[in-house]
Amino acid sequence: MKVLVVGGGGREHAIVWKLSQSPKIKKLYCAPGNPGIAELAECVSIEVTEIEKLADFAKRENIDLTFVGPEEPLSKGIVNYFKEQGLTVYGPSREAAQIEASKEFAKELMVKYQIPTAKYAAFTNYGEALAYVRSEGAPIVIKADGLAAGKGVVVALSLEEAEAALKSMMQDVTFGTAGVRVVIEEFLEGEEMTLLSFVNGSTVKPMVTSQDHKPVYDGDKGLNTGGMGTYAPLPHIDPSVTERIIKTIVQPTAEAMVAEGVPYEGILYTGLMLTKEGPKVIEYNARFGDPETQVVVPLLETDLLEILTASLTGKLENVEVKWKDKSAICVIMSSAGYPGPYEKGKVIYGLDQVVNSTIIFHAGTDMRDGEIITNGGRVLGVTAIAETLKEARELAYQSVEKVSFMGAHYRTDIGSKAFH
Ligand code: AMP
Ligand code: GLY
Repeated sequence: MKVLVVGGGGREHAIVWKLSQSPKIKKLYCAPGNPGIAELAECVSIEVTEIEKLADFAKRENIDLTFVGPEEPLSKGIVNYFKEQGLTVYGPSREAAQIEASKEFAKELMVKYQIPTAKYAAFTNYGEALAYVRSEGAPIVIKADGLAAGKGVVVALSLEEAEAALKSMMQDVTFGTAGVRVVIEEFLEGEEMTLLSFVNGSTVKPMVTSQDHKPVYDGDKGLNTGGMGTYAPLPHIDPSVTERIIKTIVQPTAEAMVAEGVPYEGILYTGLMLTKEGPKVIEYNARFGDPETQVVVPLLETDLLEILTASLTGKLENVEVKWKDKSAICVIMSSAGYPGPYEKGKVIYGLDQVVNSTIIFHAGTDMRDGEIITNGGRVLGVTAIAETLKEARELAYQSVEKVSFMGAHYRTDIGSKAFH
């Protein structure tokens, strides 16, 4: 088979890495890919939002299956367009991808189908939103509806912060069109975790649990990023909690999408808060998480292609999705300044020095005169796999020490919540 992966970050590197092990794949392409991906697949310089160009490429090269990594092309309808063109593509339709693209769609779905989540109200009128925030008080969470590149969420600990966030989202138009409508949520207290699942209609195949580390500095300090590291599975979370999440959240979500006439096919990311009253949904994403994928996919024993093909032929139910009885951890190395402004073009040293059982997934890298250089905020994900999380963590940090570039930053406490 010929397979095309759309995307060019650490997530897509992990997907390509896994697919490259599938005996049925003769040729693997990635658009646009990155220098790490280029070692495993032929990179094609088409951007993820150039949907028509991607479809033309898939037709010209007789691609048998396209896998879409990022949210933007999904919410723009890449799956609808590919299907209209008679192409085989894995991922949710534009309508189903609203579960991520529109926070209000997701919230209304959860309320209608009694899926546990934070209490919320949505506003387009600034005065009304302000009055609501004042009546609820802080802490309170303010979210811009629509995709806002991860910057549309403010967890306001004081009323002042909440009011400033509302003003910037609804009056200063900092967030562009995403800020026109805001969702204001009850603040949920607890530990955060992620459960990814393969979903096709009402069939759900959950993956292993994982946990992201969003703030840029140790101890969850500083601004939120796309994610500074992850580990999987969560050794301190009882399997009964995961079962409860599947039974009260993921399965009902899949069934709700069917009932709404927007059946979901693809990877469903459920971001959760484990509150005193039980697990509640923080957000859904219509795709694999980044960097969650860099730890979850290496633990997948089953051939990923087999799962995707089964799903596309309506047979996901029959696949036994097996997991390695190991632990994985991923430490992100980022550019100085990220998630604020940062410089690019720093030479990366030591990529060939990493210790065994570690894999470097490239995120924001590029090639210049035969050298690999930094080209993004999150530059690399150093993933280690071992029998225990403790061993994996030691291996990952040993490898992180070997890799260097000017201004490299990483968190030193990835996985520490598991040891509390
Ligand atoms: P989101 O983009 O919705 O995932 O929000 C980004 C981050 O904000 C989450 O990972 C949480 O850490 C935090 N967050 C979002 N919603 C809530 C909430 N209702 N209560 C507490 N923290 C939240
Ligand atoms: N790591 C969080 C996300 O992929 O949205």
